[in-house]
Amino acid sequence: MLGLGKSQATVDAVESKPKRSWSLRRKLLVAVIAIVIVVALAVGLGVGLTRGRGDGDDDGDDDDGDAPDGDLPESGPDRESAWQPRVAESWQIVLREPIKVDSNLDDLEPDVDVYDLDLFDNDIETFKTLQDAGKKVICYFSAGSWEEFRQDQDEFDEDDLGKELDGWPGERWLNLSSSGVRDIMKRRIKIAWQKGCDAIDPDNVDGYQNDNGLGLTADDSVDFMRFLSEEAKSYKMAIGLKNAGDIIPDVIDVVDFSVNEQCIEYSECETFAAFIEADKPVFNIEYPDGAPRDISSKVTDEICSQAGKARGTEDFSIVIKKMDLDGWVEYCDGDTFSTALQD
Ligand SMILES: *[C@@H]1O[C@H](CO)[C@@H](O)[C@H](O)[C@H]1NC(C)=O
Repeated sequence: MLGLGKSQATVDAVESKPKRSWSLRRKLLVAVIAIVIVVALAVGLGVGLTRGRGDGDDDGDDDDGDAPDGDLPESGPDRESAWQPRVAESWQIVLREPIKVDSNLDDLEPDVDVYDLDLFDNDIETFKTLQDAGKKVICYFSAGSWEEFRQDQDEFDEDDLGKELDGWPGERWLNLSSSGVRDIMKRRIKIAWQKGCDAIDPDNVDGYQNDNGLGLTADDSVDFMRFLSEEAKSYKMAIGLKNAGDIIPDVIDVVDFSVNEQCIEYSECETFAAFIEADKPVFNIEYPDGAPRDISSKVTDEICSQAGKARGTEDFSIVIKKMDLDGWVEYCDGDTFSTALQD
């Protein structure tokens, strides 16, 4: 739109300018210049749209790079084996905006083992810088919901979209059995590999627990997680199970960690402790009222008590966050940090 508007303005300006009569040669020259400008803008716009839409082919080969950060390498790291995260590793999660990392890491905080970051929003250099400093990068994307602002949103078939997610306008549940949806998720997982992610954190795989409009069942989620895991493992990446406590026994053999929200608030951490027993970490997030400044110390104490509502959280990797998952984080030792975000 912007490009077209500009070119029209240029044409208008050229046409409305002359008051005296022009020679035919000058008129022709002006016409040619105008056409060149219009064509150049149209080509520019076309390229922009194509890049924004992604390549859309089924084999996942990238000819132009799907990511907003320009061209991705043809292939990602050639690893011997996938990363196996350890129980009780420290972590931070920031999804609201891309984080800002200087190449010398001077300003990076917190200094934790693992960063869970948005696959699309953060650029490949950010991931590489963190990894060069010995950190592991988990790449978040939504695997079970359609988000209207993602670069590949046009690739989804309307028939595969269900109801809106409660509290997330513009985001809709996906049919997890659809081959169209799965092809798009294959491409996203390939992008994660191309961007060098150590693991993926596919979100919204628990549609069965929600009013989804597609009749999704727990079995659909189990089958979908097994599919995602196979894809991730083919690129030697680890994979987490997001929430979805009911299906843990059915998928724990193919996932490497849990990313859990609010199991303490809802007193259900013992369910997720199955991961610890299997020697796999639980990356737990709590969103207490009043974060960041006005969390009552009673609430923090309870979150970190391993008792009462927090029963079953021994060796969990707990972060206290705001619901918008910005750079702010508090840990159970009372330390707080703010990871810098892109301006
Ligand atoms: C979901 O996709 C599967 C596989 O294509 C199809 O059989 C099923 O009918 C779809 N479900 C809905 C609710 O459209």
